[in-house]
Amino acid sequence: MVDRLADRTALITGAASGIGRAIAIRFAEEGANVVVADIREEPREGGRPTHEVVADAEFVETDVSDVEAMRDAVEETVSAFGGLDVLVNNAGIFPGSCPIEAVEEAEYDRVMDVNLKSAYFGSKFAAGEMRERGEGGAIVNISSIAGLVGYDDAASYCASKGAVANLSRELALELGPDDIRVNAINPGVVETAMTTQDTSAAGTMAEQIPLHRDGQPEDIAGAALFLASDDAAYVTGHNLVVDGGYTA
Ligand code: NAI
Repeated sequence: MVDRLADRTALITGAASGIGRAIAIRFAEEGANVVVADIREEPREGGRPTHEVVADAEFVETDVSDVEAMRDAVEETVSAFGGLDVLVNNAGIFPGSCPIEAVEEAEYDRVMDVNLKSAYFGSKFAAGEMRERGEGGAIVNISSIAGLVGYDDAASYCASKGAVANLSRELALELGPDDIRVNAINPGVVETAMTTQDTSAAGTMAEQIPLHRDGQPEDIAGAALFLASDDAAYVTGHNLVVDGGYTA
């Protein structure tokens, strides 16, 4: 263990379950204080709440689609641990496969609000805190390979994730002068409740993946640790594909 995030504080949305939970556990192992911002405490896949299995962690009940709730989550992080060094905008929903003709406005709005508006305003509030403190920071946005290439019958999801990918590039330009790095991760299929419970297309894609297995949450956590840490001190505006070679 190298303690690559010693004395750092990370706010991770959607960290009760799946990928966000793995990121929280990995960050805590590397010395970070962790704030779990989620609408629920219990992991969707079962088990003990994330903030109970890692040291120096707090839970803040947050609906990330609510702009004021995102502001509160950032403020509560700062008041709990004295600052904010890393924001991971991870919370997201997959509405299920659906042809565009069948998508209603309410579903479109919900997908955009949870997947995109959350990252937009979360970044706004985090950047404000980071700039004021003047010690830089890192923002890691969880996009998807569905933000870089099309994914059949998932127009709202693809649109939201494509926007998150490019939001990350733009924010890298805007926040770079204050040493706030902004990057995105584009996971391929990762085995979580999202892929096993939320889609009728659930099931392994291992045959079509060069590394011959589906991704695990820990695969994404390793990439997030790299982007959040000083190992990536000169990396910003990057979309890091972590998909076992699927889109190669
Ligand atoms: P998951 O469904 O296992 O976990 C998502 C977490 O986000 C849950 O704890 C849930 O309570 C929370 N959440 C959902 N809506 C929320 C809201 N409005 N406010 C606060 N928290 C909320 O999903 P998974 O797979 O861990 O996904 C995490 C991120 O990774 C998402 O942004 C997803 O789009 C992205 N992703 C996932 C892939 C996969 O194959 N699992 C592939 C590519 C990207």
